[in-house]
Amino acid sequence: MIKNDKINVLLLGNGGREHAIAWKLRQSPYIAELFIAPGNAGTSLIGTNIDNSLTDPDTLVEYAKENNIGLTVVGPEAPLALGVVNVFRKAKLPIFGPTKEAALLETSKSYAKEVMVASGVSTAEYEVFTDYSMAETAIPNWDLPLVIKVDGLAAGTGVIICNTKEHALETVADIFLNEKFGTAGQKVVMEEFLVGQEISAFAFVDGTNVSSIAGATDYKRAYEGDNGPNTGGMGSYSPPHVWTKTIESSIRKAVFNPVVSYMKRKGNPYTGVLYAGLIVTDSGIKVLEFNCRFGDPETQVLLPRMKTDLLQIMIDTAMEDITKIEIEWDPRPCVGVVLASQGYPGSYETNKQICGLDELDSGVNLFHAGTSISDDSIVTNGGRVLAVTALGDSFSSARDLIYKNINKIKFDGVFYRNDIAAGI
Ligand code: AMP
Ligand code: GLY
Repeated sequence: MIKNDKINVLLLGNGGREHAIAWKLRQSPYIAELFIAPGNAGTSLIGTNIDNSLTDPDTLVEYAKENNIGLTVVGPEAPLALGVVNVFRKAKLPIFGPTKEAALLETSKSYAKEVMVASGVSTAEYEVFTDYSMAETAIPNWDLPLVIKVDGLAAGTGVIICNTKEHALETVADIFLNEKFGTAGQKVVMEEFLVGQEISAFAFVDGTNVSSIAGATDYKRAYEGDNGPNTGGMGSYSPPHVWTKTIESSIRKAVFNPVVSYMKRKGNPYTGVLYAGLIVTDSGIKVLEFNCRFGDPETQVLLPRMKTDLLQIMIDTAMEDITKIEIEWDPRPCVGVVLASQGYPGSYETNKQICGLDELDSGVNLFHAGTSISDDSIVTNGGRVLAVTALGDSFSSARDLIYKNINKIKFDGVFYRNDIAAGI
């Protein structure tokens, strides 16, 4: 526990998730300076954005020492895969996130499957392949749709759902023969297609213990009615409408506890936030994947519901003892809608001036993602540009407030889904 001193915090990342984390950390009575590497226009309003080129773990350690950083928080998966946590720990600097070895739960889908099988966690039936001919030969044995996943990190593009055998054949050829995913595609997981409500579940883990679990729902498809290509997420709400204490407790028993104990037993204890992508099927809850970080845009609806001091939780997690902290959640639902650039998740234009951000009602949270500052104005700088989120006494009151306010925000090519949290 922090006693009297305030600490400086360094946060890595530049997305909507990181703006939400920065916003929540800023509310802590224990924070002194907040630095974000590299951050976006939103984080620059509540902290100090630092050099874009600062990504190498050794350079980050130097920065942390020079700036008397008391805690470093890793937002996205890429620095985890580079081993930033290992390097900080070696330098005896507190950092929130899993080691490179524990992060394999996200960075290798075949490893995650092995862990699930070995720890008795329910998941889709699967096979792993390391070459084209074995994969090609196996395709006729699978029912359709068939899910093909590249093993490594692929920025949200590595899961391909094939409705025909021809598409499956093309996909394995793209991965193995055309090396479309580079080294991330040296292994492939083929798995059965699962049907049901998806839920993102999040818990803080200190190597041994699992905090209370919070849930959110994410809208992956670009267009209304769940049409169009998969994106990083176009909207979210929390808690999921199917969420109950019973579901939380069965997710704890069936997913988090066994995986966390297994990782510890194997000498790779997991510390940080663990995100389980779940699907509630007719035959129970199954795991689609693990991520070693918060979700985006789930964080933008989870953190407004968090009543506990996030900095204290993150320090306790980094210090490997979360037993003294009780995490409290606002029971009210939170809804969030992402404003994106026309063309996303394909190619899109940037540098469009954003207007209306000062006109939002109180109670509306504005989280920046792909934004930057150019000539004193805020401009677009990415596919997902902003997330607007709000708590409400009901899903429909939160939705009404959000859509009323989104109408005030203007930039060339803005698009968003009108059906986030509709009809629940
Ligand atoms: P991932 O990158 O693993 O989160 O997968 C992206 C999305 O693909 C998930 O959110 C699901 O919507 C979908 N998905 C992944 N695996 C399966 C599966 N076995 N069955 C059905 N949908 C899946
Ligand atoms: N919203 C999905 C993710 O963060 O992976």
